Parts: sequence; C-alpha cells; structure tokens
Amino acid sequence: MYTTLLTSLENSIFTITINRPDKLNALNKDVFADLNKALDEVYSHPDIRSVIITGSGPKAFVAGADISEFSGLTVEASKALAKAGQDTFFRIENAPKPIVACVNGFALGGGCELAMSCHFRIAADNAKFGQPEVNLGLIPGYGGTQRLVQLIGKGRAMELLMSAGMLDAATALQYGLVNYVVPQEELLTKARTILDLINTKAPIAVGKCIEAANAVFDETKNGYEVEVAAFGHCFGTEDMKEGTTAFLEKRKAVFTGK
Ligand code: COA
Repeated sequence: MYTTLLTSLENSIFTITINRPDKLNALNKDVFADLNKALDEVYSHPDIRSVIITGSGPKAFVAGADISEFSGLTVEASKALAKAGQDTFFRIENAPKPIVACVNGFALGGGCELAMSCHFRIAADNAKFGQPEVNLGLIPGYGGTQRLVQLIGKGRAMELLMSAGMLDAATALQYGLVNYVVPQEELLTKARTILDLINTKAPIAVGKCIEAANAVFDETKNGYEVEVAAFGHCFGTEDMKEGTTAFLEKRKAVFTGK
C-alpha cells in the first residue's frame, strides 16, 4: 500500500515508519503522498486510537526535505511545495488522535518540522535537532519558523534558525522540545507505554484536549471559547456519563468513544 512507509497497528497504536534509510528518510514527494494516505487512515479508522511517527534505521528520524527535488524549482513552485508541506503537517497537528514523534537520530530541516507538528516528542539519546536551511540559502518552509518559536521560545529559536546549529537530545530536553530522552532501544517502548495509558481515556475528550490546546497558537480563534465549546461537547457524550457515573460508583470507566 505504501512505497516509502512501513505501517503497523498494534494495541490500537498505529506506527508510521518513514522508510528511506539510504537517504536518511528525507521527505520527497512520494513520502508526502504516502504520509497523506496514512493520515487518511488515522483520521478515518476507528481501530486507530493513537499514532507513533518514527524513522527507519538507527541514524535518522528524517534528515530533511529531499534536497534533490529542489533543483530547477521556480519561485512559484517552491511556494506551492512549502504550502503543501505545511498542509500535511497541519493535518498531523490537528489530528483528533494523539500523534507522538519518536526521534531516533537526525531530525533536521523538514524532519525537525515533522517532529514539531506532532503533539509531543520523545528522543533517543542519539537524536539531533536543527533547522540547517540557511546552509542552503533557504529558510524552513514547513512551519519550522513558527513551531520552533512556540516550542523553545523566540531567542533560542532565532539563534538556531540563523546559525543552523544542532541541539543534542539533552539540550532538546532542557529546552522543552522533547518530553523524554531514552536509550535508542527503549524509544518505541516508552512511546507505547504513554500511548497505552492515553488510550484508556475517553477518546472524544482526548481529541478535544488537542483541539483546545492547539487553539492557543491559532490567531483566528479564541482559545477560551474553543475550550467552552469543547467542554460542552464532552457533556453531550456517552463517555462523559460513563466516566462520571463510574467515578461515583467507585468502578473503572469503560469508554466507547461515543
Ligand atoms: N535530502 C536528500 N538526500 C539526503 C538528505 C536530504 N535532506 N540528507 C541526507 N541525504 C542523503 C545523502 O545525500 C546521502 O545519499 P548518497 O549516499 O546517495 O550520497 C545519504 O542520505 C546519507 O547521507 P550522508 O550525508 O552521507 O550522511 P552523513 O552521516 O555523512 O551526514 C547529515 C548526515 C544529516 C549531517 C547530512 O546528511 C546532512 O547534512 N543532510 C542534509 C541536512 C539538511 O540540510 N536538511 C535540510 C534540508 S531542507
């Protein structure tokens, strides 16, 4: 079904592995097409409760957009490329199910942008983060200038963007870019442990947490109004009745996602 991705569904966790290890999983047109198909599955498949995105091989999560596809692009075509990349990453950011990046090595350029579009990140101890586009006479085009500022603050982001520097995993943790740093062999297990826990919660409420938290960074929305609407939406769900009733009856809630 996919030429550039490996996918698997286990315990309701859908794992998407970008699989071009010989090119350090660089994002070319085929990867974007496959990612969008995989996101269709994520959005529509009721058996998928949460998602891991990672890279194939021990060296790289994703080493960036595929630079070989840049040559000969017109200014207009380059804008369309950036817009299409941004749209894909908006679909990740706004997915109603948790999407976690497991960063198993280099997350550079579009790879750092992909990781930042996920709801949170876990790094292997060999992870390296950076936006090296200025080395190519470019800037990030898939949302990197915006999300890096959101995640690590303006001063640190400015320095990283302008210097093409790289953050090691320990610094990324200190900056709040990742939630955990673990040995590479424990990376997926760590993510699965967290997602197994989240998957026991009410799915609609989990999706509404994502929607409300994302509204902080959306200037077209008032986050407090989004929160009120989401709170009200949850009150209309069967899972809210089940969750509150189970608490009062001192038993474990059984959520159905309705
Ligand atoms: N686009 C296309 N190909 C890429 C790539 C990218 N972003 N990143 C790595 N590759 C390819 C290399 O061209 C090489 O292919 P080849 O074996 O056919 O020559 C292969 O992946 C391995 O990369 P290599 O550079 O040999 O590995 P390394 O360990 O010496 O260096 C990096 C690793 C990540 C430091 C280096 O690959 C790099 O700087 N990549 C580009 C990072 C970047 O600028 N990203 C932003 C793009 S907008």
